[in-house]
This record gives sequence, structure tokens and C-alpha cells, in this order.
Amino acid sequence: MNQKIGILDSGIGGTTVLAEIKKLLPKEDYIYYADNKNNPYGEKTEEEIYKIVDNIVKFLIYDKHCKMIVIACNTATTRCMKQLKEKYKDIPFVGTVPAIKVACDNNYKNTLVLATPATIDSERTHELIKENKKIGQEITLISCDGLANAIETKNEEKINEILEKVKYKTKNKKIDSIVLGCTHYPLIKKEINEFFPNTILLDGSLGVAKQVKRLLHQYNIENLNGTGEVEFIYSKKN
Ligand code: DGL
Repeated sequence: MNQKIGILDSGIGGTTVLAEIKKLLPKEDYIYYADNKNNPYGEKTEEEIYKIVDNIVKFLIYDKHCKMIVIACNTATTRCMKQLKEKYKDIPFVGTVPAIKVACDNNYKNTLVLATPATIDSERTHELIKENKKIGQEITLISCDGLANAIETKNEEKINEILEKVKYKTKNKKIDSIVLGCTHYPLIKKEINEFFPNTILLDGSLGVAKQVKRLLHQYNIENLNGTGEVEFIYSKKN
């Protein structure tokens, strides 16, 4: 089926997920919707996020005829995935959640989860901890106000200021893994590693790519003739 896969985020963050999906599925074609006009999502209410994301999903399904929707955003997934799946029952959805399961399954003892305020405070994030954390494992949650926007706007000073605060807050912990619970954060892996050397950085993009592949097969909607082309749409011109 040669309809495209629609991928969305509040800006450039989801390109980290797109890259992983494209590696696994080079014969699919994609639309990447960067909602930079509404960035950041992570400091909005659930109602606001849902309204914004629902409009984009509507556009991708009805105007662009996408066969699948990938929410390449932890904030939108943890806050609105349930409602979206209920509303658009016929279209397969794949979301992105903080890779807490990966950290726990790999037996890291002291995991730090960095994400937006809306993701950190979401029920879904707390469920993920409850479902996966084993005895002897510690998980520290830190909400990084402003970090996604600083990455989006390439504000290096702000990025360093926020990371310095995170480092300070965890100074008494032996952090062995960091879950990058926002799709913008893998774009500053180098900077995070400077503050946290010898720490494993985890994100959910490979898991998302595998789930996309599984669902395309399950729904029998794979594209055998695509070229990996990506149509980029920005809600605001930069
Ligand atoms: N990249 C998004 C995430 O994964 C959203 C960041 C934001 O807009 O606050 O959470």
C-alpha cells in the first residue's frame, strides 16, 4: 500500500524517531509534521495538547491520506494516545514513551528519566515505572522545563544551564543510565554525555521503529515500492 506514514512532533525532536524508522523501513514513504508553531507541548495542559495533536492527526488522515500515524513525541503519547486511538479506530497508531522498560530490563540500578513536565507528571509514566521497576532499582524523575524549546531554537546557553541544574540535583546519586524521555533530547547526546560521562543514554526510537514494522505487517499495509522519501511540513516557517 503506497499511502504514506504520518509522523508528528512539536518540532525537530521526532526526526530522531524518523531516522530509526527509515533505517528499518527504507521502502516506505513518509510525511513528517513539525509543529514548531506550538512548541513546546511539554508545558501545556493535557486539553491543549490533545486539541493541537488531534488537529494534526485529522489533517494527516483526511487531507494527506496517511495509512498510519506515529506520534514521535513522548508528551503527546503519554497525554493523549488513549483518546486518539479511541477516536480513530481504523488507523494504526504508534506512540513514543520514555524507555523505562528498556532501562529496567537491562538491570540498570540507578536510572535518571529526563522528560518534559507534562510527561513526567503523566499517569502513563508512573504506570511504566510500576510495571517495570524491580527490587533494588532506583528511578529518579526530573522534568526539564524549557529544554525541548532550547533544543528547538538551538539555544546552547540555555541547554547548558538546564543540564547543569540536572547534574546538581543528582550529585549524590550514582546514575548509570539516563532515559531520554523526550524525542528532542537525543539531539544533544553529546552535551548530556559531557555532564554525565560513562552513563548509558537510552531512548525509545528503536522500539518505535520495530512496532511500526510489526503493525504494517499485521494490517497488511506495507509498501513494497516506496523510496524512503520524506515530505516535511512545518506549521511555522523558520
Ligand atoms: N519532543 C517532544 C517529546 O518527546 C515534545 C517536546 C515539547 O514540545 O515540549 O516530549
